[in-house]
Amino acid sequence: MALRLDRYLTELGVGTRSEVKKLIKAKQITVNGAIAIKPEKKIDEWKDEVCLRGEKLHYAAFEYYLFHKPAGCVSATEDNVHQTVMDYLTDTVRKDLFPVGRLDIDTEGLLLITNDGALAHELLSPTKHVEKTYYAKVRGTVTVDDVNLFEKGVDIGEDKLTKPAKLVIINDGHMDDGTCNEAQEENVISEIRLTITEGRFHQVKRMFEAVGKEVVYLKRLSMGSLRLPGDLAPGEYRALSEEELSELKQCILEKKREK
Ligand code: URA
Repeated sequence: MALRLDRYLTELGVGTRSEVKKLIKAKQITVNGAIAIKPEKKIDEWKDEVCLRGEKLHYAAFEYYLFHKPAGCVSATEDNVHQTVMDYLTDTVRKDLFPVGRLDIDTEGLLLITNDGALAHELLSPTKHVEKTYYAKVRGTVTVDDVNLFEKGVDIGEDKLTKPAKLVIINDGHMDDGTCNEAQEENVISEIRLTITEGRFHQVKRMFEAVGKEVVYLKRLSMGSLRLPGDLAPGEYRALSEEELSELKQCILEKKREK
């Protein structure tokens, strides 16, 4: 496929249309070793060698980043008050990247950042039921009754109950003999893992609220086949490996077939 040089450069995030036109005018761009004169010059993005000030540009239609969201930033591309997740992506010049879905400002963990709108749509579509697993600390004793309720679906104040969710109690805050250190049972902190297949607003927090408990810490561990890598500290990101990307696409395909 051929595309105009100015479009090629803007798609790569080199600058806006007018900025890249200025770069061309200033003879900063070469195509296959020759200075490019016209913004409308046709480029074969896979074959032609385009350089900016002598540096070869690498064309990729889409980029995919795994980000370990820290608490304190919002899952948006712009915000007047808070830092956004995009402020952490310092090594990429692309302007069309966005976070796939939202984590609350105080939620940490795995967030996919891409410019692939179709893939984002597939991952977020409520009909595809892509699994998301969270680790949480919850004030109060999480019980087997909660596990059963979450499995059936809980009323979080919307028209429909939540879809079946898998709740695993890691630690209910009690010793082996059933006693706890806290003076009051409701101050006990339980640790859980919860897998949901929807993405309703504040869903995990509201599910626990529905059973009279409060989420005091929340972290997303996985989304579909993507896992939060243990060596990625909060605030760090890296490109998805080819294997991770193809597994994710495979996972989406399987969800489509299940429908
Ligand atoms: N559920 C929540 O309550 N918050 C999040 O950030 C994600 C899921």
